[in-house]
Amino acid sequence: MLHVLVVGGGGREHALAWKLAQSPRIGRISVAPGNAGTAQIAHNVDVDATDIVGLMAFAESARVDLTVVGPEEPLARGLVDQFAAAGMRIFGPRRQAALSETSKSFAKRLMIDHGVPTPRYEVVTNLDDAREFLLTHPVDSIVIKADGLARGKGVFLPQGETDAEGILRSLLERDALGEAGRRVILEERLHGDELSLMAFTDGHALKLMPPLREYKRLRERGIGPNTGGMGAHAPAPAVSREMALRISREIIEPALDGLQTDGCCFAGVVYVDVVLTAEGPQALELNARFGDPGAQVVLPLLETDLLDVIDACIDGTLDALDVRWSRSAAVSVVLATAGYPEHSDPGLAVTTRCDVPDDVLVFHAGTRRLDNGALITTGGRVLDMTAVGPDLTAAAHRAYRGVDCVEFDGMQYRRDIGLLRSQWE
Ligand code: GLY
Repeated sequence: MLHVLVVGGGGREHALAWKLAQSPRIGRISVAPGNAGTAQIAHNVDVDATDIVGLMAFAESARVDLTVVGPEEPLARGLVDQFAAAGMRIFGPRRQAALSETSKSFAKRLMIDHGVPTPRYEVVTNLDDAREFLLTHPVDSIVIKADGLARGKGVFLPQGETDAEGILRSLLERDALGEAGRRVILEERLHGDELSLMAFTDGHALKLMPPLREYKRLRERGIGPNTGGMGAHAPAPAVSREMALRISREIIEPALDGLQTDGCCFAGVVYVDVVLTAEGPQALELNARFGDPGAQVVLPLLETDLLDVIDACIDGTLDALDVRWSRSAAVSVVLATAGYPEHSDPGLAVTTRCDVPDDVLVFHAGTRRLDNGALITTGGRVLDMTAVGPDLTAAAHRAYRGVDCVEFDGMQYRRDIGLLRSQWE
């Protein structure tokens, strides 16, 4: 029986550990650092997800057979390269490929060089250049993006010139996001339905996951600031099988080709955010990992043993594997603290008003259990209330029955997850 280490401590990693726990070949799962949810199904290890030395020491001493990496930061710091160099089995892209994660301008360049349709953009590093760009581009036709890793806080849709000036000043002059915001992308704003598509890859073959929709804005009907995601649903009904294959052909395959031909190895997950325009799909973001909360709605629909899929990605045998998906739908509603996304509110007691129904999966995103047994918040996103149903509406109603059972001071969530058919409704 295998010992698997999952790296990370959010809802995505809880979902990964939960799915891996269903594998008959796995005897032990450790999660570093994990959270109160992963502690219920696995062993939490007190090592940070970015502590490469600590993770290697644990993996060696605890005889870990396979490491699965959730978040982008350890990938960008070269966790996979170091494990692979030490002959340790690990699932995730190497540092060079993960640069698509850590620098939006790198990802844009790569996409353009490899013929991936993506909105036009300009990179600026000072306010004067940004202002000059705005002289010829109306503010409501652009998106402002921090170049670096900003944990979901780096994308802005300015509401007028004063707002745009404030956002640019805070990034470029006041260091609001530190290093991540010192280089800024000014990108053409496109209109159309947005969706995300993820695929497993061994670097050559691709196995598409069900298309999904992430709800990026804080409030119902797409109002409020951008977040790391306030919920998700899969499948995305607006996306036909033909459209998913077109996105794979026109976006995922050339992007992956770029990552390979630029000297990278890529065994892991490719994840693209796409907008469906009248001219066809355009790529907004290119990522080298599972989305969060995208993973929370896709993994419950996976019928094939996740360990078999990961093994096939690492061994280069993915083409021969039949990866099966349920025809059901899944919905995940994120419960966040009052200050999210601006700041997190740690230390709030999480309590229950009723027993969460058995058909609701509670993936923990930012929680910790105290010695006295109390559950408290640790971050902005706290719980992902997730349910599967025969269709999106049924799954959403199930998930919201779970939401009704949980509370903490200032809890906020969207009430329309899984219930909208288009972002324009
Ligand atoms: N929810 C956005 C991401 O995972 O990148």
